[in-house]
Amino acid sequence: MPKSNPESEWFGFRRVKAEEKTGLVRDVFSSVASRYDLMNDLMSAGLHRLWKDALVKRMDPKPGMACLDVAGGTGDIAIRLYRRMLAQGKAPKKSKITVCDINPQMLEQGRAKALDNGIVRGIEWVEGNAEKLPFKDKSMDMYSIVFGLRNVTHIDKALREAARVLKPGGKFFCMEFTSGVAPALKPLYDAYCLNVMPFLGEHIANDRNAYRYLAESIQKFPAQAGLAKRIEKAGLGDVSWTDLTGGIAVIHEARKR
Ligand SMILES: C[S@@+](CC[C@H](N)C(=O)[O-])C[C@H]1O[C@@H](n2cnc3c(N)ncnc32)[C@H](O)[C@@H]1O
Repeated sequence: MPKSNPESEWFGFRRVKAEEKTGLVRDVFSSVASRYDLMNDLMSAGLHRLWKDALVKRMDPKPGMACLDVAGGTGDIAIRLYRRMLAQGKAPKKSKITVCDINPQMLEQGRAKALDNGIVRGIEWVEGNAEKLPFKDKSMDMYSIVFGLRNVTHIDKALREAARVLKPGGKFFCMEFTSGVAPALKPLYDAYCLNVMPFLGEHIANDRNAYRYLAESIQKFPAQAGLAKRIEKAGLGDVSWTDLTGGIAVIHEARKR
């Protein structure tokens, strides 16, 4: 197991071969795709919406910018980016906002949700792996990955891909749950993740194991400073992070040099 990428052989708390992990993660999201949005609301008591609003406010996309949301799943970030651009008086042009996700079922849910929100064009939905993005070098003004990086097998490869597709000066954003929660919250938070999340998974999404994996993967994800170093090593500069809700969620930001 390479020391620089210790999570690549962990599927939650279970040791697996790195080459198996991507397929296992894909199965998790195939299983939960139709209930994914409902589960997010239930598990976070709606907090994920506030965190995503805060992130997109911070991203502050301008109409015409090429924005790529990787591991974008059911499109929560893309739809917010679209609305924010629209609020500035101009609908995003075709293919300026791109959602890339490895899982076709999650993308399908996202496409349907965008249509329900009256968004017929302006968001492109692309199946692809964060570790080998199907986009040209220096083609994006913004890259985001939200609650996605901890599911990727080789985090450092995904970070290098982010650096590759960003234009010089382009902005990188990652929002993730983290193992670096404030010490006062940690015991309660860990108990919640490891007991309540699988319980809700079993009774709402009919898949206890999928939500046990998601909870365990949070515990395996690097804390704030460790991730910041790895973002820098991937070739991004001006790295900083902001804790949300006592460090339960964290936004890392950086800029392509
Ligand atoms: C927890 S969901 C987050 C979805 C969305 N970003 C959100 O915040 O609601 C994680 C997403 O990562 C995707 N994913 C996992 N591994 C991936 C990879 N290697 N490349 C691209 N997407 C991946 C999954 O299919 C899933 O849609």
